[in-house]
Amino acid sequence: MRLILLGPPGAGKGTQAKMLKEKFQIPQVSTGDILRQAVKDNTELGIQAKSFMDVGQLVPDDVVIGLIKERIKQADCETGFILDGFPRTIVQAEKLSETLTEMGLTIDNVVDLEVDAEEVINRLTGRSTCPDCGGMFHEESRPPKVPGVCDGCGGTLAQRQDDNKDTILKRLEVYQESTAPLKQFYKKQGNLKTVIARGSVEEIFSRVLEMVK
Ligand code: AP5
Repeated sequence: MRLILLGPPGAGKGTQAKMLKEKFQIPQVSTGDILRQAVKDNTELGIQAKSFMDVGQLVPDDVVIGLIKERIKQADCETGFILDGFPRTIVQAEKLSETLTEMGLTIDNVVDLEVDAEEVINRLTGRSTCPDCGGMFHEESRPPKVPGVCDGCGGTLAQRQDDNKDTILKRLEVYQESTAPLKQFYKKQGNLKTVIARGSVEEIFSRVLEMVK
């Protein structure tokens, strides 16, 4: 199965992608995670990406398109993949279609997680993540057993650099401008499924499964 998860920042793309990955045993390909790892490793890509990510802007299309082209050609993507955070612009979506066509593949489902701005702000300001294993928590909806400590690996939880209110508002603006038009793009292609992303993580997961089965 090849699946795209669309939705604004904080819609729960990463949370649902991790559950889908377990269920279907296919990789989660998150451009945000790839870029954050590059920032952490202080690579050339990371240095270039950081200045955009810190202020809630998109990293230039050619950079992320190159990353994705390389990633989906790897052996673990042969049986499918979940794209989380890509595509984010019409140019990225067009390039993805071109690349998949060259590979003789198509996207099976595009699931749009719909959630309002108030909920997004609450989710992102309360989020903490584990820089070691990628574990994700929320102070209300998914608190760690021991405050500040990752349940999975015992790492020290941190808040993402871009999860402050001003940057979240900028990310939402960028989403409306550049990413929301993708809904129309995929609707025209006939594979857009909309899921109301309010409710518990498990409730949303069963709605997503209903859409992709
Ligand atoms: P990226 O990492 O993709 O961030 P994002 O799209 O802003 O999404 P988030 O990771 O913030 O949220 P999410 O939807 O995954 O929600 P999550 O499951 O974590 O991108 C970051 C930056 O990288 C971009 O701003 C850009 O600069 C750059 N970038 C990345 N991709 C790019 C691309 N293709 N092109 C150009 N630039 C790119 O959940 C959020 C919180 O809510 C968590 O705490 C979670 O526990 C909680 N939660 C989840 N579900 C629920 C629920 N149902 N109820 C209550 N709480 C919930």
